[in-house]
Amino acid sequence: MPQPRGVKPAGSGAGLTVAVTGPTGEIGKPFIDALERTRDVKKVIGMARRPFDPKSRGWRKVEYRQGDVLDRSTVDDLVEDADVVVHLAFIVLGASDATRDINVEGSRNVFEAAVAAGAKRLVYTSSVAAYGFHDENPRPLTEDVPTRGSEAHPYSAQKAELERVLDDAVSGAKLDTYVFRPCIVAGPEATMLVDAIPYVKINQALPAAARRLLDVMPILRPIIPDPGVPFQLVHHDDVASALKAAVLGKGEPGVYNLAGEGEMTMSDLADALGWYSIPVPDLAVDATAEVVSRIPFLPAEATWVNAARTPVLMSTERARKELGWKPKHAVRETLTQTVAGAREELEPA
Ligand SMILES: NC(=O)c1ccc[n+]([C@@H]2O[C@H](COP(=O)([O-])OP(=O)(O)OC[C@H]3O[C@@H](n4cnc5c(N)ncnc54)[C@H](OP(=O)(O)O)[C@@H]3O)[C@@H](O)[C@H]2O)c1
Repeated sequence: MPQPRGVKPAGSGAGLTVAVTGPTGEIGKPFIDALERTRDVKKVIGMARRPFDPKSRGWRKVEYRQGDVLDRSTVDDLVEDADVVVHLAFIVLGASDATRDINVEGSRNVFEAAVAAGAKRLVYTSSVAAYGFHDENPRPLTEDVPTRGSEAHPYSAQKAELERVLDDAVSGAKLDTYVFRPCIVAGPEATMLVDAIPYVKINQALPAAARRLLDVMPILRPIIPDPGVPFQLVHHDDVASALKAAVLGKGEPGVYNLAGEGEMTMSDLADALGWYSIPVPDLAVDATAEVVSRIPFLPAEATWVNAARTPVLMSTERARKELGWKPKHAVRETLTQTVAGAREELEPA
């Protein structure tokens, strides 16, 4: 492992070089857009596995490299000259035991490399899922609640484990660490919430004419089961503004929940899509989650049923107070924009 080169001198934030893993994801793209507009950021070096042309998005400060967070020497090269390291690379919907290497070991590589390179700041997006889906969770959740994760939900378990890995990696190091715990991120460019509904996956495989037929024949419209559990949404641009504040070293380093104003249920999502919803009792959700946990060959996405078992609603007081974070989009507006974005993806003009 390379030896620390000493922490780079803390400055006013002028002319920062920012290394970003996962710049091409649902959070990454709007976040880099925000950095492109920030005068204090001079250069962004981004890395993910697939080919990507920064010019295709009009990015001018970005140097893009193809690489895997599992490869420590590639990560060392990425963060070598960085003042700030932002770690977004992760397997989200498909998280399973098989993705533990990328999600936990890959992330450990990034954290250790940031310390070894002497970066000034490290910014990491954890998740509300790190708290775990426990009935006894306080409402709302504040940042001091322990992140226990939920064993039956690999994404949640890995997010919880990773916060401990991060604490170990940065312990004793002189770098300011910001950890964000966003709720579900949505918006026109972050449609995972809609894409994750099984019907959408089937719909995407249909020819356009068949899709249009489904839209005009209400009886064929899909039905979303609604366990009535409320959840929060945060707009990708509001996540981007929080990450940007951390990049610039605003407020105190530490842990911050992120969620937009308001809450919603799956029925609201069905309404926004023009679909139907049917209430399902808690018992049915519990039974499904129990069955899912016993079937080894189901796709990893099926474990997300656990996320619908109990409300995990967060307070965002701390981000508002410390970082001056003011989310611009409330849940209804974010939902409307997300559905519009998903429709564009499903039915390109
Ligand atoms: N979206 C949400 O609702 C949400 C909510 C809370 C927290 N978060 C957290 O926010 C972070 C970013 O999420 P996101 O929604 O932007 O995810 P995303 O859309 O799935 O994007 C993931 C990014 O990571 C890259 N990546 C994946 N595996 C990699 C690897 N082995 N090496 C290098 N790059 C890799 C992907 O590009 P390639 O596939 O080309 O490598 C992509 O750029 C994650 O930590 C996620 O857990 C997300």
